[in-house]
Amino acid sequence: MNREQVLVARRIFDDCVQRLARHFDVEVNSSDEEWTQADLIRRLQGKAGVFVAGTERIDATLLDACPDLRAVCSMAVGYNNIDVPACTARGVVATNAPGVLTETTADFGFALMMATARRISESEHFLRSGQWMRWTVDLFAGADVHGATLGILGMGRIGQGIARRGALGFGMKVLYHNRSRLSVDDERPLGARWVTRDDLMRQADHLVVVVPYGPDTHHLVGARELALMKPNATLTNIARGGVVDDAALAEALQTLRIAAAGLDVFEGEPRPHPGLLAVPNVVLTPHIASASIPTRRAMANLAVDNLIGLLTARRAVTPVNPQALESQRWRHTG
Ligand code: 8YV
Repeated sequence: MNREQVLVARRIFDDCVQRLARHFDVEVNSSDEEWTQADLIRRLQGKAGVFVAGTERIDATLLDACPDLRAVCSMAVGYNNIDVPACTARGVVATNAPGVLTETTADFGFALMMATARRISESEHFLRSGQWMRWTVDLFAGADVHGATLGILGMGRIGQGIARRGALGFGMKVLYHNRSRLSVDDERPLGARWVTRDDLMRQADHLVVVVPYGPDTHHLVGARELALMKPNATLTNIARGGVVDDAALAEALQTLRIAAAGLDVFEGEPRPHPGLLAVPNVVLTPHIASASIPTRRAMANLAVDNLIGLLTARRAVTPVNPQALESQRWRHTG
């Protein structure tokens, strides 16, 4: 029997490739350079499945040019790089990687918020560059985290993980805004209270942004929202570039409209807005919130599970559009 062919669009762990190679003929991008869309299309000819990392654009043009493709399996939880309706319309199942990165990403979001509040990057730079001459009473004095009001924009799994850390570990008061409210049973142990978006902006001492990116959340935090925040507040973004208007944020940081920001995601990655690089009161990290070794392995293995499950048994562990399995494309194969 002919083996199915799959493409691994990014360098991943060898044992993950070996798992795929037990079932399929596998072509792997063994460099860390992302293929262009044209390259991706060319290499996807004859391929039934693709492993993506979360940045590759899977849109109608690509899908139409790759008629054999049935499974798009991403190791990221966010899937704004995939046009899901276009996949569904063509019978292509897309999968993401929820769950496995929740705690690691919440750890990082909390760490970034703390580093921002306590000015860790700024003060390290000061020390490394030889500027530390003496103790002074307000040297890099920042904001307290314990007991402060934590505002969470987007209360999915990761948002709840951050709320747990804040409420149970640091005695923070938790406010959140989300399209849907948590159940009373989920709110109660965290003492979490739903508020409007504007109230969240007004009341948070430390705002953490964790909503998925899409047309509805583009620039959800812009100049208007930043103007509502307390002048001593911080903003941490671990969601996606584009949820926060980075130009407006750079301006708010430069004018001290807000005290500081912690950013792991940016518009135009990997080239953050120059205004953000020019101000000292921001902690910047290169989209690494999920980057612990066990978690990156779990994310990659989940995408592998999805590819193997779909192409050998028409079953996915974490499908985004399971209804796509009903299409002709699946009935005529396997
Ligand atoms: C990924 C992420 O590292 O899962 C997500 O949505 O943002 C990160 O965990 C990134 O998408 C690249 O794979």
